[in-house]
Amino acid sequence: MQFSERIKGVKGSAIRELFKVLGNPAIISFGGGNPAKECFPKEWAAETAKQLIAEKGDVLLQYGPTEGYMPLRKAYLEKVLPPLGITDATIDNVITMTGSMQGLDLLAKVMINPGSTVLVEEPTFLGAIQIFKLAQANIVSVPMHEDGVHADELEQIVKETRPVMFYTIPTFQNPTGAVMNVEARKMTARLAAEYDMLVIEDDPYASLRYSGEVMPLIKTFDTSDNVILLTSYSKTVSPGLRVACCCGNAELVRKMVIAKQGSDTHSPNLNQALVAEFINQGRMPAHLDFINSVYSKSLNIMLDAMGKYFPEWAKYERPEGGLFVWVTLPEGMDASEIYKRSVAEKLVAYVPGAPFYTKPGIGDNTFRLNFSAEPEERIIEGIHRLGDLLKEIGG
Ligand SMILES: Cc1ncc(COP(=O)(O)O)c(C=O)c1O
Repeated sequence: MQFSERIKGVKGSAIRELFKVLGNPAIISFGGGNPAKECFPKEWAAETAKQLIAEKGDVLLQYGPTEGYMPLRKAYLEKVLPPLGITDATIDNVITMTGSMQGLDLLAKVMINPGSTVLVEEPTFLGAIQIFKLAQANIVSVPMHEDGVHADELEQIVKETRPVMFYTIPTFQNPTGAVMNVEARKMTARLAAEYDMLVIEDDPYASLRYSGEVMPLIKTFDTSDNVILLTSYSKTVSPGLRVACCCGNAELVRKMVIAKQGSDTHSPNLNQALVAEFINQGRMPAHLDFINSVYSKSLNIMLDAMGKYFPEWAKYERPEGGLFVWVTLPEGMDASEIYKRSVAEKLVAYVPGAPFYTKPGIGDNTFRLNFSAEPEERIIEGIHRLGDLLKEIGG
């Protein structure tokens, strides 16, 4: 087979590969960022889908517009964006997507030539790295700290490398859980204007906040219309629906629509209609209160268990939100090697940190734990077993 240059050397997503072992129910998974089953609005979705098809079946079961299902675009524009401080957008700034993953793919198609420089946080969401590699980008990175990237380092790297875009997850970053400080948020918007650099503000986790103060979106500091906000409904409503919205420059959004025409024509109408109803019926605030109470409890259980069973040399911070705890082992320890033993001997899965880094050889001593997908007793049991394994290996 004569494969493209593009696909050569791009590995399968470590998380997608993980789904293969997760078929075994004995495995306790701290792997993918799956929401808890009890957090899906199942009864509501069943009733509402039936009603939607009865009332609007002719439209919903037909082909729809590539830009997205209009009631969802309007709900996002009129109900979701203004409370976030975005009040000057119009419908031409908004499209819907088949998950924010598709947003990244469309933006890569629209913005990246082979060799174009793309700036990412180090470490960052491995799905984004995969997309930018497939687009044959020259990926450069800015280091993450406890409070996200630092304004001075960001400015320096942008000056030196002149990226076409900066991809950032400012709030409850995947994988580190870090929240970008306000200075860096302002600097990001300033650099976007100064260097005509697109900023992708990927924001799937900000609504999952358990403590601390709400942070302003980078988009609220945007003076040049160079910041595009991606809002996924995967973590808050359902990842299986594959629904996300974005708000960005109208010209850019138009190009994304053209790329989407040749990708999946449009996102599924019924799924978009469900999310639109969820927003328009005003269900989101109570739903977020509910899922945040579930997840903050799971986080506390995981952290308590880690305090009890993990060796002291395994370092981690308490995240204020999101779905992950990021662990750093002493230099020289290899979380990918430990992972093999963890799955085989302890029946516990997590995601080794290396695939979240853009360069080989760094981050091998890190790994990511998800706390939302397993019930309380399995979180405690899994952390106990993993802690035992770490102590067996590292003393
Ligand atoms: C930072 C980040 N962006 C995007 C995605 C993909 O989201 P979606 O399900 O909307 O494609 C994820 C999923 O884990 C994520 O963590």
